[in-house]
Amino acid sequence: IATHEFIAGLPKAELHLHIEGTLSLSMKRKLAERNKLQLSELSFTPLKVPPGSTGQKLDILQYKMFLDLYMQGLKVLHTVEDFYDLAYAYYEECKRNNIIYAEISFDPQPHTDRGIPFAAVIEGLQAARVEAAKTLGVESRLIMCINRDMTLESALQTLSAAKPYRDHITGLGLDSVEDGHPPIKFKQLYDLARAQDYELTAHCDVDMVNAAEHVRQCIEVLGVRRIDHGINVLDDPTLIDTAIERGILFTACPTWRDGDPQPRRVDRIKKMRDLGLKVSLNTDDPGYFASGYMNAMLPRVVECGALTQDDLVAYMRNAFDGAWLPEDERQEFI
Ligand code: HPA
Ligand code: ZN
Repeated sequence: IATHEFIAGLPKAELHLHIEGTLSLSMKRKLAERNKLQLSELSFTPLKVPPGSTGQKLDILQYKMFLDLYMQGLKVLHTVEDFYDLAYAYYEECKRNNIIYAEISFDPQPHTDRGIPFAAVIEGLQAARVEAAKTLGVESRLIMCINRDMTLESALQTLSAAKPYRDHITGLGLDSVEDGHPPIKFKQLYDLARAQDYELTAHCDVDMVNAAEHVRQCIEVLGVRRIDHGINVLDDPTLIDTAIERGILFTACPTWRDGDPQPRRVDRIKKMRDLGLKVSLNTDDPGYFASGYMNAMLPRVVECGALTQDDLVAYMRNAFDGAWLPEDERQEFI
């Protein structure tokens, strides 16, 4: 059966997805209008590859440019209803893409820093989560991501703010600008979160400075069970062994921007799997990347990576295996 149909029909799980990264232009317009925001805040620049970009330094600059856009965009979110609508729109995409299970990251700090109550964020997301399970049959969990370029104090305050909503939040993650903010900065946060039974993950963005060392710190210092991206595990053979031993799942994202010749990182993602590392495939920020949602991204990954349909099934199985579900519930998905 043809790749597109096979992918459309494959029941999928997505474990690495930033809800603020799903913001579409139409959603942005709708929320800006509802909240009576200036049109100047509506400018929307799709991610493009700058001409002549190859070196690592430039890639870090591009990450920062992307994160600036992302932080600009999320300012249209104000009320419980806004967070509900944003999340529910993603759940509708899940339905369209046959994603039957999702673990959704959200960033509380850029909202609470603007004076938006933590309650508005989590209540909107939680209400959408419940409604999507009931109406669309899409199951999901929430991952609270800490912005690593903010202080440890701010992170600890955010963990405290989450306490009344502990039941709604399954995991803790770490995202945003990595340069100069190693995982070890958040050891105290992760120790506290572990004591509160949060599941643990953290971003190690691709090709950042000290990338492999960051992967090592995530595993050995923070004690994560998953790593978001983490492709640079490949740079260190002993680290590869450690990750395999501990069964770490890497949530990789073969996304692309306007101007990228093909999905990024596919060769390395394949190599990771060939070495026996557990990897899953995810869309990260589908509102910003040209790769979009699963049913658009995966066919091109298959084409350029020479993956078979069996390979795809194996990647999806890794996602369901690494999902933060009780064993009995996991069995219902497999
Ligand atoms: N990397 C780091 N932080 C992020 C990302 C990402 O891809 N998306 C949203 N926050
Ligand atoms: Zn991410």
